[in-house]
Amino acid sequence: KKRLAVFCSGTGSNFKALFHAIIERALPAEIVLCLSNRSQCGAMDFAREYEIESLHLSETQFRTYDEFASAMLQALRERRIDLIMLAGYLRKIPDAVIAAYPEKIVNIHPSLLPQFGGHGMYGMRVHEAVIASGETRSGATVHFVNEEYDKGRIIKQNHVPVLPDDTPETLAERVLLCEHRLYPAALEKLLDEQP
Ligand code: GAR
Repeated sequence: KKRLAVFCSGTGSNFKALFHAIIERALPAEIVLCLSNRSQCGAMDFAREYEIESLHLSETQFRTYDEFASAMLQALRERRIDLIMLAGYLRKIPDAVIAAYPEKIVNIHPSLLPQFGGHGMYGMRVHEAVIASGETRSGATVHFVNEEYDKGRIIKQNHVPVLPDDTPETLAERVLLCEHRLYPAALEKLLDEQP
């Protein structure tokens, strides 16, 4: 079984979708760690409820960014993590961690990358930009994380329509439901490809 760490900053609905899919589909994976930059959030509550180790790790706990990066690396190594799944983790992954886990860090982004990605493009801002652009299609993308923000190799995408009367909120809801199907499917694909 692959040992997974899930990184979250908020509600953690994608974390929950992954957790349930692993059990229901008997995927050869186990979520052994939930890491968050916030001590209190939906994702951390869920981890505690299901007795998954929850680790609060934030830059603010360290004197320097390098110390923060080293602590993250050490936490991952100590737990022999094979795959890192970012699920609404709204912080940058330190370069040292990206370098140590090439094609082992996976992110889900709420748009059809390469469109509407990059710095400052996360959460509701993505949906606002999609609506402002007049696109009739949006969706979600699961991709590998590399040193270029939102530019790593794409693993899987799914699309949803943008409806004429959509607000950023109604579009966000439709995309999130699409994410809950997409992320487990992408994990299944990865586990098949990386035995
Ligand atoms: C999701 O829509 C995810 O794609 C997005 O944050 C939301 C987290 O929801 N991530 C990004 O924007 C990353 N750039 P969740 O906490 O309920 O899974």
